[in-house]
Amino acid sequence: MNTSSSVFDTLIDRSGMCSDKWSKYPDNVIPMWVADMDFDSPDCIKKALHQRVDEGVYGYTHTPKALVAAIQSHLKTRYSWEVSATNLVHLPGLVCALHLSVRIFSDEGDGIVVPGPVYYHLTKAPLLAGRDLTSVDMVIEKDRWVPDMAQFEAACAKSNSKMILLCNPHNPGGTVYTKAELISIHALAEKYNLIVVSDEIHCDLVLDGLPHVPFASLNHDAANRTITLMAPSKTFNVAGLGYAFAVIENAELRAEFNQGKTGLVASPNMLGLTAAIAAYEHGQEWHKELLVYLAKNRDFLEERLAPTPMKMLHLEATYLAWIDVSGLSLEDPYQFFLDAGVGVSNGKDFGNSNYLRLNFGCPKTTLEQAIIRIEDALKKHGLM
Ligand SMILES: Cc1ncc(COP(=O)(O)O)c(C=O)c1O
Repeated sequence: MNTSSSVFDTLIDRSGMCSDKWSKYPDNVIPMWVADMDFDSPDCIKKALHQRVDEGVYGYTHTPKALVAAIQSHLKTRYSWEVSATNLVHLPGLVCALHLSVRIFSDEGDGIVVPGPVYYHLTKAPLLAGRDLTSVDMVIEKDRWVPDMAQFEAACAKSNSKMILLCNPHNPGGTVYTKAELISIHALAEKYNLIVVSDEIHCDLVLDGLPHVPFASLNHDAANRTITLMAPSKTFNVAGLGYAFAVIENAELRAEFNQGKTGLVASPNMLGLTAAIAAYEHGQEWHKELLVYLAKNRDFLEERLAPTPMKMLHLEATYLAWIDVSGLSLEDPYQFFLDAGVGVSNGKDFGNSNYLRLNFGCPKTTLEQAIIRIEDALKKHGLM
């Protein structure tokens, strides 16, 4: 008998759910791309949603006070970060806030500094708005992906630079910025008077108990120049419910942001609000178990990749492995994986075609099946 079975081991058939993740590839491919886990949401969320649905009236809905309190308590407990209710802005998603921030707080031609490879909306937001995207290379230092700080300073020093877009924890690569690293980045923001938009959507997915430090919590100046973006969506697997929030402590920036989104951005979905309250009030045990499960999946993946020509650094956060496939010397590694029956994200979409991003937020048996398919394909082609 398997005594260590976990709620996360359950295989869920998502084929009839219009799931983006499960619709992209043919049925014989295991989808391991978009940041969406193949786990049931916690019971507390399902129960709260049932209750709300049973109420039967779904009219315009404002943000419940209970959600504000739940967020405040969550931020205080996990990050020792005290946020006042007035500084919260409730949103239907985080990506729209990235694009809006760029459009509201900079003008055409202004420089936007973005360490990458990175989640593609951080580069798309400046490019679609006609801003001057200045990429800063993430480089490997002591087995972690960190921005090249000399390049970072040069980018910030450009006369048109207006804003830094930061992804912390970083997707892909999983870096959880240390306080010292954030202080160095803040020093640049202060020196060159830049606004910082900090996408912290993966902050509750930090593995191995590492501390996440919200950029805005560093000091008064950081708080004053930062738009922090967070959501329960990745952690509690409720991305389809449409809820995220911003913390904007600077009243002027907050007013500009609120004005800029008026009439363009819908209110958060009522069920998203309901799920967020349940997640932050009652999801702690499930969340703790999730992190343990994800860390085990990561370790398992690391072990199995070790004897192959592929390389993966020890991921500090997220369930998105960033895998160096250059050692395979393949013309199209993404297609090679797909032909093997594993649908990953192409590293090219994040800015580095030598990499693939593999989502291991799934039952271990699914992960193992995918790894076996990859190993078999490598053996067949004499690559292992
Ligand atoms: C860094 C990052 N930001 C934002 C998002 C998406 O946010 P939302 O679904 O709330 O628009 C993702 C999804 O993968 C992400 O990885």
